[in-house]
Amino acid sequence: MSDTPKILLRGDEIENLREIDVYVDNGGYEGFKKALQMGSDGVINEVKAANLRGRGGAGFPTGVKWSFIPKDEPVKYVAVNADESETGTFKDRLIMETNPHQLIEGALICAYAIKATAVYIYLRGEFWDVAHELDKRIAEAREAGYLGENILDSGWSCEMYTHLGAGAYICGEESALLNSLEGYLGQPRVRPPFPANKGGGLYKEPTVVNNVETLSNVPWIIVNGADEYKKIGTDQSTGTKLFCVSGHVKNPGVYELPFNTTFRELLFDVCGGPRKEGTSFKAMLPSGGSGPIVPLTDEVLDSPMTYEDTAKLETIIGSASLIIMDDTVDITWVASKVIKFFRHESCGKCTPCREGTYWLDKVVDRIMAGEGRERDIQLIDNVAKNMQGLTLCALADFAANPIIHTIRHFPDDFMQHVKSDEELAAAGD
Ligand SMILES: Cc1cc2nc3c(=O)[nH]c(=O)nc-3n(C[C@H](O)[C@H](O)[C@H](O)COP(=O)(O)O)c2cc1C
Ligand code: SF4
Repeated sequence: MSDTPKILLRGDEIENLREIDVYVDNGGYEGFKKALQMGSDGVINEVKAANLRGRGGAGFPTGVKWSFIPKDEPVKYVAVNADESETGTFKDRLIMETNPHQLIEGALICAYAIKATAVYIYLRGEFWDVAHELDKRIAEAREAGYLGENILDSGWSCEMYTHLGAGAYICGEESALLNSLEGYLGQPRVRPPFPANKGGGLYKEPTVVNNVETLSNVPWIIVNGADEYKKIGTDQSTGTKLFCVSGHVKNPGVYELPFNTTFRELLFDVCGGPRKEGTSFKAMLPSGGSGPIVPLTDEVLDSPMTYEDTAKLETIIGSASLIIMDDTVDITWVASKVIKFFRHESCGKCTPCREGTYWLDKVVDRIMAGEGRERDIQLIDNVAKNMQGLTLCALADFAANPIIHTIRHFPDDFMQHVKSDEELAAAGD
C-alpha cells in the first residue's frame, strides 16, 4: 500500500501545490503538453487502455465515453461534475481545494481529446468558496496560455468556466446537471438522446460529463502511460481511489489507496478500528445512502474494495463513501434517515419516485413511532421493489435500496419496533 504513488492527494506532500508555479515545478501541465503531441485519438486510446473508470458512482469507462463524441460537430462541451452531493462524499472538494490545477489540466486534456469549445465546472451551491478559488486558478491557467485562443499554437481554442448550482442532490445526475447549467429546473431528461449525442448534451451539443476525481487522474495517465496506471489496483478496477470514511471509526477522513485494498485494511489499519472501546462494527453503507447496506462480517471486511468484488457482495463501491456503523446503531433508524433524504431530494417528475419515497417515509415513521405492524415491513419492502427500474433516473433505485437491504440484512432491527398480528389481536386491535 505504502509503495503506491499518490496520484490525486499530492497536496498533502507538496506545500502550496494549488498555485500554478508550484504545480508546474512538480510536473504540472506536462500531461497536457504531451496530449497535444499525441493527438485526440492517441489521448482517447491511452485513457481507454488505462481502463480509467468514472469515479462519480457508475464506474463507466472514461475513454469509451469520450470516444462516443462525434468528431464532425463544430460545437462540443465538457461538463465537470463537481456537485458532490452523495451523502458521506467529501473527496472532490478536497481535490479542488488542494490540487485544483490537476483538475483543470485533466479537464483540458479531455476537452482537447474531444475538441471541445468550452468546459463548465458545475459545483454544488454550498461550494461558493471553492468556486471562487477555482476561478483564480482558471485565470492563472489562462495567463499561462493553457486556455483561450490557439492554445500553445495548437490551432485549438477553448474556454473554462465555473457554475454554481443551488445545492440540490438531483443536480449531480448528469442530465439534471445539464438542465441546471442551461438555467432550467434541475430535473433529469428523457434519454435517448444521451449527453454524448447531438440533441442530448449541453445546449443540445455533444457533451462529456465527468466527475472531478475521474478527470484528475488523466494527467498522470498521459504522463506515465496506461501500462503504469494498470499496475495499480486490478484489471477491472485500475488506479487509486479516494475513499471517504465517516461514522464510527477512530480516524475518519479521505484516503487515497489502490482499489485492491481490503475493507479491513482501510477500517482497521488506516482508520484505527471502532471509535469506542467495547463496540464492534455492525454495518456499512459503502457508497453513501444510495448503495446497498452490508453487515460488516469477516467476508465483507476481507473483500478488496473493487468494482468486481463489491458486486459479489451484492453492493457497490460507487463513489466510495463509506459510512460505518457500530453495534449501538438501530438500522431501522438508519433506513428512516436515508429515506427522508431521498424523499426530500426526489425531483418529483416520476410517479414511482415521488409517491414511493413519500409513502416509504410515512410508513417507516409509523414503525419508528412504535405504531407499526409486522405486515408493514412486507409493505415497505413491496413498495420499494416496485420503484426499481421504472423511472427517468436512478434516484428511485437509490431510494429503494436502504429499505430493501436493511430489511434483508437486519430484520430483527425492524421486528423490535412492530407488533405481530397475534399481539394486535390480543390487544383487540
Ligand atoms: C441521483 C444521482 C445523483 C448523482 N450525483 C452525482 C454527484 O454528485 N457527482 C458525480 O460526479 N456524479 C453523480 N452522479 C452520477 C452522474 O450522473 C454521472 O454518472 C457522472 O457524473 C459521470 O461521471 P464519471 O463517468 O466520471 O463518473 C449522480 C447520479 C444520480 C442518478
Ligand atoms: S427518479 Fe425521482 S429524481 Fe429521478 S427523475 Fe424521477 S422523480 Fe426525479
